[in-house]
Amino acid sequence: MPVSDKFERPIISLRISITNRCNVKCFYCHHDGIIPQSYEMNSDEIFKAAKVAADIGVQKIRLSGGEPLIRDDIVEIVEKISSLNFKDISLTTNGTLLGNYAESLKAAGLTRVNVSFDTLNPETYKFITKRDYIENAKEGIQKASEVGLYPVKVNMVVMKGINHEEIWDMFQFCKENNAVLQLIELLKTDNCHDTEFFDEYHYEMEELEEELTKIADNVKTRQFMQDRKKYFVDEGEIEVVKPMDNTQFCKNCTRLRITPDGKIKPCLLRNDNLVDLLEPMRNGYSDEELKELFLNAIENRKPFYDDKC
Ligand code: GTP
Ligand code: 5AD
Repeated sequence: MPVSDKFERPIISLRISITNRCNVKCFYCHHDGIIPQSYEMNSDEIFKAAKVAADIGVQKIRLSGGEPLIRDDIVEIVEKISSLNFKDISLTTNGTLLGNYAESLKAAGLTRVNVSFDTLNPETYKFITKRDYIENAKEGIQKASEVGLYPVKVNMVVMKGINHEEIWDMFQFCKENNAVLQLIELLKTDNCHDTEFFDEYHYEMEELEEELTKIADNVKTRQFMQDRKKYFVDEGEIEVVKPMDNTQFCKNCTRLRITPDGKIKPCLLRNDNLVDLLEPMRNGYSDEELKELFLNAIENRKPFYDDKC
């Protein structure tokens, strides 16, 4: 059974950011709210963190970055974690190295993958990522589908004037590759806090959602995932990811995070309540003592945006 926090939010999933490093430079990147550090947990430490999480009832693991596939030991990490019987082990990647790794990741026990991929236009891709890797990313998506990672989700951050006119082409591309299209509303980031960036590119999803509601054969709500809507359209699937700066998002948040340098991060939106796991691990804490650190982090967890505030 998952442990719940004081606000009756069960801790179902753990997002482990295994590196801050990335091989693309997306201008809008929010870096998962993590302050860059120069050192990373090794694969045994990542395994240990996952093991203790399993002991307190966490059911799902997501590996993220930076770019997780940049680590040479990524297959080993997945292999180790998959010995722990989680319901779901997934990975968020930019896909550029996925063509090389999809098969061995699947064999190592990875269940599914989300690929950040915003455009089918090579120039737009280069504008967003500052790199020429569009074909590698496409190949990564195709390969992930082929080897049976399921579902493959394509994360498209929708930006006004950049890619908002590509939504239906992207949907077509996803259908061809048996992938779900995940449309993500642009968020402000620490780097791009200036409203100029946001005002210029923010694309309001309301009208699109109205259209999706009209044309969908079926609509489902993901209860433990911020009440996200999934639209089933024309034998394909579109999921809409709304911004996280609201009470509803916090109310439905069932995630804990770990930063690359081994700190438990109870809330995506704050960095003042991190609980260090790495130093205690390196000092030989027992699993039972590490478990206490997790439970403390959960005990102090509170919604960033609270109805009562
Ligand atoms: P699944 O749908 O279960 O695969 O998870 P996900 O879609 O949250 O994972 P992914 O890493 O692909 O992230 C997609 C979008 O969700 C990104 O825009 C993230 O910024 C946003 N996101 C990631 N983590 C969180 C979180 O803890 N809370 C919320 N609200 N959004 C998040
Ligand atoms: N707004 C919305 N989504 C973002 N992502 C990164 N930065 C932002 C932002 N400013 C998305 C990436 C990736 C996911 C983990 O977060 O596209 O798919």
